[in-house]
Amino acid sequence: MTILVTGGAGFIGSNFVLDWPAGSTETVVNLDKLTYAGNLENLASLASNPSHIFVKGDFGDTALVKQLLATHQPRAVVNFAAESHVDRSIHGPEDFIQTNIVGTFHLLENVRGYWGGLEGDAKAAFRFLHVSTDEVYGSLAKTDPAFTETNRYEPNSPYSASKAASDHLVRAYHHTYGLPVLTTNCSNNYGPFHFPEKLIPLMIVNAQAGKPLPVYGDGQQVRDWLYVKDHCSAIRRVLEAGAVGEVYNVGGWNEKPNLDIVHTVCALLDELKPRTDGKPYKEQITYVTDRPGHDRRYAIDARKIEQQLGWKPAETFESGIRKTVQWYLDNPAWVSNVLSGGYRDWVSKQYGNTAKAAA
Ligand code: NAD
Ligand code: TYD
Repeated sequence: MTILVTGGAGFIGSNFVLDWPAGSTETVVNLDKLTYAGNLENLASLASNPSHIFVKGDFGDTALVKQLLATHQPRAVVNFAAESHVDRSIHGPEDFIQTNIVGTFHLLENVRGYWGGLEGDAKAAFRFLHVSTDEVYGSLAKTDPAFTETNRYEPNSPYSASKAASDHLVRAYHHTYGLPVLTTNCSNNYGPFHFPEKLIPLMIVNAQAGKPLPVYGDGQQVRDWLYVKDHCSAIRRVLEAGAVGEVYNVGGWNEKPNLDIVHTVCALLDELKPRTDGKPYKEQITYVTDRPGHDRRYAIDARKIEQQLGWKPAETFESGIRKTVQWYLDNPAWVSNVLSGGYRDWVSKQYGNTAKAAA
């Protein structure tokens, strides 16, 4: 058996692909365009694993996706591929529309065609799992209850609006064509292989480089944080047992203001790798102009997935953030390749001309 994963060289996708063999012998076909956010170095430990087939390409490329579906006959598609950074979506929304909306549409069309040609058990067992975000629900006031699956969609950034549109397309393909879809809406992830443009890895990397730690506005915006491996276990559980057509919110019950997150990262670095001048890393905190349209608070009510599918996160925020800071300290080569841009030609350096990955 085989599954097709899109965007499996990004942060969450690569964690998902790396964790997959521990629970399954199924082959993973990993389709990723390798945008700036895709890093094959994340998948280095799978380089000689025949159950991981990497294909460089666009999930919106009809000819390629049709060929992959026909050749590998996956029993499921897990769609991680997206443009994912809110700040980039503010500076340049077009890629978000193209990838998150148009790309997802093409993928859905091709998967619909493939699924329509399946028969019997293969058709009944097929699933399309769409990985989405809590940001589609918009922003909460301080005392509002956390987002449930029935909250109205109120996206506020080009990123969240494009993800909301993709969620609607996925929903429509189920209601109109019967495509067996599942959707997950997860809170902010953190953990290994997180690109240092996002809050937590940026703070870890900048702190060690002696650079400012930029906190937007007053730093009191609240996010719900989930360790990435817990998100991956939730996706596996939904794929295994989720009811077709249903949406599952995924979260860690860890609402924290950004400033608390930055202080926690600083304190862990003070303990694990103190500054040579003995001063605390928090001295590097710098308040900067707020993000336009900045959502004030996200919070996930994860009772549906917990009660209906028996999923729970394994990490607390305290255990997960310690592992994460330690991972960045243990992997300076990964960090410096990302910062230098060297990760972008890692494949050719690593595999030379025989790169299966560079196909
Ligand atoms: P990421 O930006 O780290 O990775 C995205 C991956 O998709 C990259 O490897 C990139 O090369 C690939 N990609 C982009 N366009 C592509 C295309 N046209 N064809 C094929 N591949 C393409 O993102 P992430 O943080 O790993 O997020 C993965 C998914 O999870 C996204 O859909 C995102 O919206 C969702 N999500 C992320 C978070 C989070 O906190 N990071 C939380 C909830 C949901
Ligand atoms: P981010 O990691 O970009 O995720 P998202 O915008 O999808 O939630 O940002 C998390 C929070 O941290 C968000 O409220 C913006 C804030 N932030 C900063 O204060 N400084 C930074 O340098 C970054 C990247 C984010």
